[in-house]
Amino acid sequence: MLSLMPPFTPPRDWPELGIKLWGTDFPSPIGLAAGMDKDAIAIRGWETLGFGFAELGTITPRPQPGNETPRIWRVRERHALINRLGFPSEGMEAVAPRIERIRKAGISIRLGLNFGPNSLTIPDKVAADYAALMQRLGPLADFIVINVSSPNTPGLRDWQSPERMNELFKAMLAESGESPRPVLVKISPDLERNDLFRICETALELGVDGIVACNTSISREALGVTSPHPGGLSGRPLTIRARELIRDIHTHTRGKIPIIGVGGVSTAEDAWLHIRAGASLVELYTALIYEGPAVAEKIKSGLADLLRRGGFRSIGEAVGIDR
Ligand SMILES: Cc1cc2nc3c(=O)[nH]c(=O)nc-3n(C[C@H](O)[C@H](O)[C@H](O)COP(=O)(O)O)c2cc1C
Repeated sequence: MLSLMPPFTPPRDWPELGIKLWGTDFPSPIGLAAGMDKDAIAIRGWETLGFGFAELGTITPRPQPGNETPRIWRVRERHALINRLGFPSEGMEAVAPRIERIRKAGISIRLGLNFGPNSLTIPDKVAADYAALMQRLGPLADFIVINVSSPNTPGLRDWQSPERMNELFKAMLAESGESPRPVLVKISPDLERNDLFRICETALELGVDGIVACNTSISREALGVTSPHPGGLSGRPLTIRARELIRDIHTHTRGKIPIIGVGGVSTAEDAWLHIRAGASLVELYTALIYEGPAVAEKIKSGLADLLRRGGFRSIGEAVGIDR
């Protein structure tokens, strides 16, 4: 029981786990994935639990309730979740002052902001939704994630096509202001390999700053899960798929685009193998449910061990060495 208690002492510093990306220092590569703190209400908590960064959101421009309940289920025997939340969000005007307050008070972890369109936005206006989010929230972020891969907003995943990515990117860049923040794209684990390669090429052409791989999956049997519930699958069944994606992206972009690896990370070994496959940063969500609030601290301590035993001086040295 004790191991499930949150740490009451400040999380330990692990200087060897620090990594610099986009000119920003991340105190560790272990972050909170999007979806847990959609409205930026618990930022201080993520810092206290030892995360090196938190990706907040998905945030939509206007408030919306998301899908009706029930909308989240456990698949206990597989340490997995299925959700069809559908972006419940208090909207950008509610979220902005919370982040402004935290920034003013000072925060030791980095903050990513994950953007998505409102569910009732017509396709012609989706790019305008992302642009509005960029204008309002961009200056508050250390990095921005364009979420075009949630399976729970109809039509959203179509925005992973090169033409539409191009449209989104241009609309957002036009609003990026005087100190543009790194912009990353979050992709689905259900992409065909050819589509993934087209996305990599488009990302290189457009100068996308990073790729977050990956979101939840609509596959079931292929991932060894049988469940009657609809929505996106996360947790342990995703580990191998996420790692394959990370390796493919790293190979196809020749390591030129930083990758945030997410999917089925619950141990230090999981995080380490995502890093060795090509991830510069790693995130988790479902492991927090099954392993409890000490998970980030446990992973960091194990990661420091793996680094030392492998003879590496920093995380950066290990990124992509299994490619
Ligand atoms: C309940 C739940 C809600 C989520 N909501 C979002 C979201 O709003 N935006 C997003 O980009 N990803 C969302 N995700 C996906 C996670 O960020 C992550 O990509 C995925 O769960 C795989 O990581 P994991 O296996 O560590 O959970 C959500 C996941 C879960 C389980």
